[in-house]
Amino acid sequence: MSPKVAIGAVSLLSAVVVLAGCGSSGNKSGTGSSSGADARGPITFVTGKDNSGLMPHLADAWNKDHANEKVTIKQQSDQADQQLSDLEQHFQAKDPGYDVVTVDVVWTAEFAAKGWVVPLEGKYALPTDKLLGPTVKAATYNGKLYAAPYASDGGLLYYRKDLVSKAPTTWDEMIADCQGKTSTTITGPKPACYAGQFAKYEGLTVNAAEAINSAGGQIVKDDGKTPNVETPEATAGLNFLVNGFKQGYIPKEALGFQETQSLNAFQAGQLMFMRNWPYADAILAGTGSKVAGKFDIAPLPGPKGVGASSLGGHSVAISSYSKYKATALDFLKFVESDAVQSYNLTQGSNAPVLTSLYTDQALVAKFPYLPVLQKSIENAVPRPVTPFYPAVTEAIETNVYAAIQGTTSVDSALKSLQAAIQSATAG
Ligand code: GLC
Repeated sequence: MSPKVAIGAVSLLSAVVVLAGCGSSGNKSGTGSSSGADARGPITFVTGKDNSGLMPHLADAWNKDHANEKVTIKQQSDQADQQLSDLEQHFQAKDPGYDVVTVDVVWTAEFAAKGWVVPLEGKYALPTDKLLGPTVKAATYNGKLYAAPYASDGGLLYYRKDLVSKAPTTWDEMIADCQGKTSTTITGPKPACYAGQFAKYEGLTVNAAEAINSAGGQIVKDDGKTPNVETPEATAGLNFLVNGFKQGYIPKEALGFQETQSLNAFQAGQLMFMRNWPYADAILAGTGSKVAGKFDIAPLPGPKGVGASSLGGHSVAISSYSKYKATALDFLKFVESDAVQSYNLTQGSNAPVLTSLYTDQALVAKFPYLPVLQKSIENAVPRPVTPFYPAVTEAIETNVYAAIQGTTSVDSALKSLQAAIQSATAG
């Protein structure tokens, strides 16, 4: 690290500390006040596995200025479904030890409807005017904000720029690139063509929704609950994945891929194209990556042109069972501060929730794909918004997985999916 960079890092840390101090009502050390919205004390922040190594900095920056209100980070697994079931169990047990929790955009409705997280209104009000619209919408349920947007997510196409001269914009172009029908420069063992996340878990719902939305279909109608998958468009979308496995442009191993496995395969040079979230960029460009300097990022392709991403991302909410809600609220303000958001982008390539960072010239110079990412997030299609989301996503995962495995036809998978979403949302 050059001295210049080191100074930059120190001043970033101080900026974070100053900002964090501002939010705590001048009560830097905490009073240990014992109840209600004014109570302060040490908190635990429960969050998914820190793949990008951001948490030590976050904790240090906060703790430096909050001696009596320190945060302890509790990392869960890196798998969305396991994170959710861990949170559900702790909420059901009314655990006061889970003060502040990371909320995937698809969990907001369930957590809000069950009263597990504190609505951010009145004493808990949080300004949202500087944040990207879709991130605020995803943290809102029935007109109330329930969480502070923390990191957005949009699906991106990672491609080997050393092997293809430009990013494909359609599925056919991508497949043609893999078949060597375009100006590819592949020598030696050929990498597999394409992979996303196709294991049977939340990531499969994301990838299936992207394929279906890209083909002009919908999983549910605009009311957010009426299933709409028995259509030619949804059929075309699912066929892209099913044919991938049949024809071999998606390798069989990808039936077991979550984010990490697809990233590992691309990083080892075993894939030409990969669908993944922005966080993959920092890891792929880092030391130890076989593809550092050899890949670029583009919008997801679709059947006739650029495709549609699913909206991903996380916000941070205060548990209804936390004893120290005043501290927790300050922590929410802190995680969406400019300093934390910039740090998470520059160190972990996390998609910021602050709109201004997407047009910051120094950041765009360092991350030229920021405008692509902003567009991907702004045009991203939310997954169904319902308190019964766990049953809806289970229906998608089960039926789509059967189709891509080849144990059922696309038509019968979509027929059974239609019926399953209907019964999941009828309650
Ligand atoms: C990412 C997204 C999240 C999604 C998950 C699926 O973490 O941010 O919204 O549910 O991937 O694996």
